[in-house]
Amino acid sequence: MRNARIPPAPLAQFVDPLPIPPRLRPAVGRAPLTVRLRTGVHRFHRDLPESRIWGYEGMFPGPSIEAERGPPVTVEWRNELEPPFPVVVTRALANAADGVPVQCVPGLSGGTPDPGAAALAGHVVVHLHGGLTPATFDGWTENLCAPGQSALFQYPMDQRAALLWYHDHVMGVTRFQVYAGLAGLWIIREPRERELGLPEGPPFEVPLLIQDRNFTLDARGSLTGQLLHKTAPDVMEAFAPFTVVNGKVWPVLEVRPATYRFRVINGSNARTYRLVPFRNGKPDFERVCQIGTDHGLLPVPCGLPADGLVLASAERADLLVDFSDLPAGAEVTLFNTASAPFDGSRFSAAEAAGAGSLEGLLPYPEVMRVRVVEGKPVRRAGPQALATDLDPPPAELLAAAPRRTILLVEREMEGEPNMLTLRELGPAPEGQPGPVVTISDGAQTTRHRVVASHFEDAATFYPVLGQYEVWRLVNLTTDTHPIHVHLDPFRILTRRPLRHEIPKGGMGDLELTAAVTLERAPGDALEHAIDENERGLKDTVRVNPNELVEIVVRFTKYGGRYMYHCHILEHEDRDMMRPFVTMPPELMPFMG
Ligand code: C2O
Ligand code: CU
Ligand code: CU
Repeated sequence: MRNARIPPAPLAQFVDPLPIPPRLRPAVGRAPLTVRLRTGVHRFHRDLPESRIWGYEGMFPGPSIEAERGPPVTVEWRNELEPPFPVVVTRALANAADGVPVQCVPGLSGGTPDPGAAALAGHVVVHLHGGLTPATFDGWTENLCAPGQSALFQYPMDQRAALLWYHDHVMGVTRFQVYAGLAGLWIIREPRERELGLPEGPPFEVPLLIQDRNFTLDARGSLTGQLLHKTAPDVMEAFAPFTVVNGKVWPVLEVRPATYRFRVINGSNARTYRLVPFRNGKPDFERVCQIGTDHGLLPVPCGLPADGLVLASAERADLLVDFSDLPAGAEVTLFNTASAPFDGSRFSAAEAAGAGSLEGLLPYPEVMRVRVVEGKPVRRAGPQALATDLDPPPAELLAAAPRRTILLVEREMEGEPNMLTLRELGPAPEGQPGPVVTISDGAQTTRHRVVASHFEDAATFYPVLGQYEVWRLVNLTTDTHPIHVHLDPFRILTRRPLRHEIPKGGMGDLELTAAVTLERAPGDALEHAIDENERGLKDTVRVNPNELVEIVVRFTKYGGRYMYHCHILEHEDRDMMRPFVTMPPELMPFMG
């Protein structure tokens, strides 16, 4: 089945047991939790030497913090990192050797180690992704904490039960520092989930943090275990050949014949996964039902999409998986069928085992395996009604909501990787000279101009606390971008196809001339539909090529300066990130 040109996997699959990160449970009313950021050693695979990493408590991933909804949690993030930076960063000289793309194999592929990355000294800033956190503690990308310093952050935990994660967020180098290991899970619990009888904690609740990693080779061509972040001349994102779950390459999980709750999160820099459970040569979807998404429970459970469960960087899924009908020895293998860079193209789940592809930078589609062991079958009936607190925004408020439009734009650069930006639009009055972006839905055409495009450009979004806002994300690139908004979660309102034209010379650093029409582009085969499992509260949404996604968000409590960005970390670092400032209404009249 496997494509003959794909080199055999250099590491044995499904030999290491899936690790479960240790749990840290802050006691209510007690002293702050202390989490030390440390240089550590970690073994990614039985047959790999130990790797140096930077991790929370020196671990890869960090400990899972578990908190109750309600009482605030204070964490002292104590930076004890020691140089040198543990990841070798390189850009390979060519795209492929012998027809094998450099990102499909380990080793430097002719690249030289980047001295700038090697000199990283351990400045950090911690962000709790998905947290409703006051701006001071949200991990603003430029507010650094050096080795020897610490940051005391308070997290109110006044939010729905959900799987969040904490990770580094330093300006320009987030991609390297998260890759080095600076990421961990954070779970919020609440009574509603207990009423539903959902599994909590081991053994039946299992977090699955999925990432991809690569390693260098020694002079003899053997894997060293040293982490390698490799890009190619034409591909600015690092896509790595080894899939790592909870810190192990291609692990195996032994389960009893019972219902498990898998809390799945994509913690990769850039890779999107489309997960297909496979058994006896066929997709095995029936045993899986999805009950939650980024910000907790869905209103009702749903099955997985027909092609598989798509998770882009930072997206989460809460799954119930019923193994109770399986005999001891039965195996379910999880495959990934998403090629990279991901553009939303379909791939039939039935072919999942053969999804390996060199052009798709997916040499090994295997993710992990589940093996059933002896035991008395216990089946839990899945609840039929889940969240009871998800009221849609009232129609009048939605109609009155301010609308903001953001273009996702890729600009080719001479001799450098492309520049990706989020371009915020303002009105372009009739008759005003200069480049104009028009957006036409057939009935109406609106005229805009770009008012900001780089992170350093002045903030133009000042959402008022308590008010609904509609943000329109318009993708003019050829890849899918997972767009993440800090602070309050949002809902997806619409996905629509579009076509666009940019005249030759129409794309400047800030200026842009473009005509966007909300109708299907010729040859566009994507559905542009909202999946069942996206009908909950999200903080990260995939925006596919030739697509407009509308989200509705209401910032509720905390006024201050926050960020929104593409969660492909290589894009976030190379300017797909913008600030926004939430404002209490009574301050607005004083805002110049
Ligand atoms: Cu997970 Cu601003 O990031
Ligand atoms: Cu975030
Ligand atoms: Cu992006």
